[in-house]
Amino acid sequence: MDFFMLIAQLSDTHIKPQGKLAYKRVDTSLMLGVAIDHLRQLPQTPDLIVITGDLVDEGSIEEYGILRRFLTNLPAPYLLIPGNHDDRNNMRAVFTDHPWISETGFWQYSASSPNWPLRIIGLDTVNQGHSSGLLCQTRLDWFEDALTQEPNTPTLVMLHHPPFKTGIGHMDDIGLEGQEELAKILSLHPQIQLVICGHLHRNIRATVGGRAVMTSPSTAHTVQLDIAENAAAMYRMEPPGYLLHWWSGVGLVTHHVSAVSSSGPFPFFDDSGKLLL
Ligand SMILES: [Fe+2]
Ligand SMILES: [Fe+2]
Repeated sequence: MDFFMLIAQLSDTHIKPQGKLAYKRVDTSLMLGVAIDHLRQLPQTPDLIVITGDLVDEGSIEEYGILRRFLTNLPAPYLLIPGNHDDRNNMRAVFTDHPWISETGFWQYSASSPNWPLRIIGLDTVNQGHSSGLLCQTRLDWFEDALTQEPNTPTLVMLHHPPFKTGIGHMDDIGLEGQEELAKILSLHPQIQLVICGHLHRNIRATVGGRAVMTSPSTAHTVQLDIAENAAAMYRMEPPGYLLHWWSGVGLVTHHVSAVSSSGPFPFFDDSGKLLL
């Protein structure tokens, strides 16, 4: 088993049907292509790529087909979980050979490999027909059983809806039902190194049940940061990005990466080789 592991987390790719823009403004396919190009140029190739929901915008077969073609350009295997914009049945219809498709009604699974020091658990928070998320008792019970079976394996958990109040009111209004029950389970399983989420389209960090929880930026648009009460539901175009989770052997370290064209690297030393740090 390798000692180190590098996991790239993309989120909220919101792929639209051919020729359509999200909110008539955002070319999500173009932006995913840029993010994947960026990922491919990293100095280290990730061992695994996870995409934490809202994979497409309307849940259609056409969109999943477009997404799948993009994902063939990823430099590593990938894992998917659905978000509130996704349709489980259409996801299954297109990703038929996804090795981690659940036989149950939910897109929940435990993924592991002899080459991975981490176990990955995906949870399905989709409450079909609603923008808010739900972890019902069936899904919570499955999660608790999965954790109980491997109490000593370092574990990364992923779900689309974050299990905490972010302060961005219109997003908290479509937040996760079952937060308290999930927090209790998290508190009982210290092998959980990190819980990663999407939905907010921004990088936010919190602690739930004593475990670190983090949301990822989107590869496309960003939810406007406004924690005023009754703030309007707005989005904005900030630099898109993704997260890199590095298992160092003793813990997980997360790096935020801006998926935009940039210049460099430039040396921190002068012409004589003297370090200027
Ligand atoms: Fe989203
Ligand atoms: Fe979402």
